[in-house]
Amino acid sequence: MDYQKFSQELPTLFNRRQDDLISPKSSQFPQIKDRIAKASINNTNIMQLLDFAVGCMNNEEIYCEIDSLGLTLISALVNHPEINAYCASSFSSLNNEEYYEELLKTLKEFNLDNQVMLCHEDAKTFLRGLHDINSKEKIGVCFLNCGNSYRDHFLNLLLLKEFLADQAIIITVITSKDIEQANQDFIASHKNSSLLLDWYPLDDSSDYLFLRLQIVAWDINIDQEVIDTNIYKSDENSKHLYLDLMKRCLMNLIYDNDQDMMRGKQGIIDEETGKITITEGAEYAPELKLIGGIWPSFAHTMIGLKRLDNLQFCIEDILAKNVEGDLIETGVWRGGATIFMRAILKAYSITDRVVWVADSFEGLPPTEYKDDVNMHLEKIENLAISLETVQSNFSKYGLLDPQVKFLKGWFKDTLPTAPVEKLALVRLDGDWYESTMDGLVNLYPKLSIGGYIIIDDYGAVKGCRDAVEDYRKEHNITEKIIQIDPAGVYWQRLK
Ligand SMILES: C[S@@+](CC[C@H](N)C(=O)[O-])C[C@H]1O[C@@H](n2cnc3c(N)ncnc32)[C@H](O)[C@@H]1O
Repeated sequence: MDYQKFSQELPTLFNRRQDDLISPKSSQFPQIKDRIAKASINNTNIMQLLDFAVGCMNNEEIYCEIDSLGLTLISALVNHPEINAYCASSFSSLNNEEYYEELLKTLKEFNLDNQVMLCHEDAKTFLRGLHDINSKEKIGVCFLNCGNSYRDHFLNLLLLKEFLADQAIIITVITSKDIEQANQDFIASHKNSSLLLDWYPLDDSSDYLFLRLQIVAWDINIDQEVIDTNIYKSDENSKHLYLDLMKRCLMNLIYDNDQDMMRGKQGIIDEETGKITITEGAEYAPELKLIGGIWPSFAHTMIGLKRLDNLQFCIEDILAKNVEGDLIETGVWRGGATIFMRAILKAYSITDRVVWVADSFEGLPPTEYKDDVNMHLEKIENLAISLETVQSNFSKYGLLDPQVKFLKGWFKDTLPTAPVEKLALVRLDGDWYESTMDGLVNLYPKLSIGGYIIIDDYGAVKGCRDAVEDYRKEHNITEKIIQIDPAGVYWQRLK
């Protein structure tokens, strides 16, 4: 499997809009979707991803699906008559023979019955069976959609590795933290494996937000020496351990007792000001917190793990390439993202850059922008965090010092005269059209070439997206916008 081609060409298939992530799509997919309406994964972006992955395989390699429910299997093979496949499933979630027979029938309809060896057994039995018959056939792409248990998934990976081609990919549906941990541990314990893509494949179907895939690359030719000297250098490792712990603390993954105040269940309205304080939040799916989809009641940031990882990626790149300038966030709430910026500077012993922390510290201003006006975020007291509280949050991490500077007030008043000379990173998180535009107008001209701009709400707030598009159009900014998760995007300034 040419996973390098796969990983190099995959981004060119991605669109920046959320509703249609990979394009173009095979014309066969609507027919497959209609035929297999029952499938639990019914997402055309995944169908296209599999089609593309199989296109990167060598003809003598095998495609493998474990706990497949048909739709993904057919999408993977329908355009590749040269590729044979294993499909193993106990069909336990459906608990019926009927479905097995039905799948056989569907494979015939799509002329795939001769290409697929269908095994009516669970993953472990199937993989042990391959071992017992001493199978010489090698798997180029494996799609795993099984179970919630750490042990089962880790064991499946261990059994599977024996049958992987020299270069292969394993695509896993991440159904729980345990599955993610098993993937992580597998990668940590196999130096010839690495995480290629962590992806929330959106679709126009309703519950898309909760679907997550990880793609792990397997390459027996990876030079172990290079990995030993580059990745596991102990100094590097301790920086990453510190930053990893910071992220867990800032997101309150430690106690994980947050409620989601965005979907508040109860609140109090101040009769005089009309402001609302949400007093009781709602339960939420853990995945939602990781992609910044909640307002946590305790965590110091609401941006989620994907966007914290992105922040770290951008800053580490800036430091590695000596891109000149300070770091700024406009719209800091409890301060979490800016605390993390300061932590990264500390981890790398950087003393000549400042973290600028810009906010009203009183919440959002009223807006008149047509697409924002009905959100009424300016009324939410829970979004108004005082300067003293944010400073105290910095102190709790031991990070309040002269390398952190605060710009208190509305962006339109503070940003034009802020004593900021040059910036290497601009993170805009003020939600509204005007708040985003104030950041762009006043800060983008100060952003160094090679620096990064991150827009937190591009996919979540229409006004924010409009501001970015208006500004880019007016200034002929053509750098590619890269999606981080359903809401956040960024680009690197190249001109
Ligand atoms: C979504 S929160 C920011 C979340 C934060 N980045 C984090 O890490 O959790 C939005 C923040 O933007 C601030 N804000 C929005 N528009 C503003 C403006 N025009 N001037 C000053 N502050 C603004 C609000 O006070 C609020 O703290």
